[in-house]
Amino acid sequence: MAGDLTLRVWRGDASGGALVEYLVPVQKGEVVLDAVLRLQATQAGDLAVRWNCKAGKCGSCSAEINGHPKLMCMARLSALPHGRVTVTPMRAFPIIRDLVCDVSWNEERARRIASFTPPPDLTPGEYRMFQEDVGRSQEFRKCIECWLCQDVCHVIRDHEENKPIYAGPRFFIRHAELAMHPLDTGDRLRELREEDGLGLCNVTKCCTEVCPAGIKITDNAIIAMKERIADQCYDPLVRLVRLVRLV
Ligand code: SF4
Ligand code: F3S
Ligand code: FES
Repeated sequence: MAGDLTLRVWRGDASGGALVEYLVPVQKGEVVLDAVLRLQATQAGDLAVRWNCKAGKCGSCSAEINGHPKLMCMARLSALPHGRVTVTPMRAFPIIRDLVCDVSWNEERARRIASFTPPPDLTPGEYRMFQEDVGRSQEFRKCIECWLCQDVCHVIRDHEENKPIYAGPRFFIRHAELAMHPLDTGDRLRELREEDGLGLCNVTKCCTEVCPAGIKITDNAIIAMKERIADQCYDPLVRLVRLVRLV
């Protein structure tokens, strides 16, 4: 599409704001970020917007486009319904200004996860893994930390009060990656259950739908971890074996 785009952008800060409508010229093949940056360059020089790579790799340009969490640099204008386009900041995090929000809650959450913990008697040169074990966690390492999955997950999006007790899908995959690592000795299932609030996830799969890295968050991490927890905590046979070992 080429011509003038009606672009509605949320303008404001932590004290409040509103949607402001602009007419922005756009070219064929452009993405939402092109229109937003042209708006900033020509009509709204003080518009706050975060971006870096314009290639879907840095995870900086996350926003909500017509209410859907997306990367602005990956959202082709031609793929959106005809008519005006509305761009708002991610809803699950506090606003700083315009399209920029404070995502530091995610960074604090990341710091709470104990790092990779190999057996103490192994030194780095002695780490050995099968390729299939490497492959299992490679999918999770594609995460670009855009926080779109965190933004869309209703457990925090609609319930701010859950933030202290819920880590969110991005950190479920981090824990799954560690739990599936054959050399990690951390008690990842206990952390997922007791500290990350995995039980609050009711498998809506919205996180998987918005992930720009194509990670199958729900099927390959969340459900896999829920199954392991169920086996460990509720399988009567596993409990019996553990009891016998303790005696
Ligand atoms: Fe973004 Fe996907 Fe990583 Fe979530 S898992 S932060 S949606 S890249
Ligand atoms: Fe939230 Fe994803 Fe579970 S959106 S409810 S973490 S499946
Ligand atoms: Fe880097 Fe969009 S600008 S992901």
